[in-house]
Amino acid sequence: MKIDVFFTPATAEPKLLKNRTAVVIDVLRASSSIITALVNGAEEVIPAPSVPDAFKKLRAKKNKALLCGERGGHRVKGFHLGNSPLEFTPDTVAGRTLVMAATNGSVAVCRTKSAKPVYIASLLNIESVAEKLAAQKRDIAVICSGKEGRFSLEDSVCAGMLIFLIEKRKHRLELSDTAMAACSLYKDWLLDLEQMLTVAEHGRYLARVGHKKDLAACAHVNQYTIVPVLRKGSIVKE
Ligand code: MLT
Repeated sequence: MKIDVFFTPATAEPKLLKNRTAVVIDVLRASSSIITALVNGAEEVIPAPSVPDAFKKLRAKKNKALLCGERGGHRVKGFHLGNSPLEFTPDTVAGRTLVMAATNGSVAVCRTKSAKPVYIASLLNIESVAEKLAAQKRDIAVICSGKEGRFSLEDSVCAGMLIFLIEKRKHRLELSDTAMAACSLYKDWLLDLEQMLTVAEHGRYLARVGHKKDLAACAHVNQYTIVPVLRKGSIVKE
């Protein structure tokens, strides 16, 4: 089994994802929010690559969905929710369809059309995702959402952790250079992943703009066991 890591969505060209299992990681905060929303009873999370597209998808759902997501880390004007996992409580999301327009995470998911299946991972469900990937036979493409087209420390460390956990279950993996680099990054930070979030660029930014609490919320390793999967354009509990 080959594992490749794409540190930004733009490097994950469709031809490189063909016939592979894909995993999209956006630790701060889209993957963490998607996982939390589905654990708390949301029916589905529909990724939207842009804000206008999110409103279009809401109309297609006859306005019966909740718009969530952010620009610059803040809730988009006219959206019901931002992108803090702490907003996706059972009272708010149980039984609801969500349409998510996050700056990087939604775009990353929308770029994985030629891969199948596509899973969503963050620190919150990393062990369950590793277990599922170790039990299947297809080559794996791990796609880091990054930050505005650039490398993000937290997504890359999480990608390394995923590979480290797969290696514990499955031997003779063939790792790309980026996969090996991600593993080395994880080994640098494994003793204090919350600290890693606080020093990462986007973690520092979120703390500056009033979302400091999200760092601890996104650092709860294996808080959940669900593995969200993309099905017909919508992210659901498998
Ligand atoms: C992302 O897409 O990278 C995140 O949504 C950014 C954020 O939640 O602040």
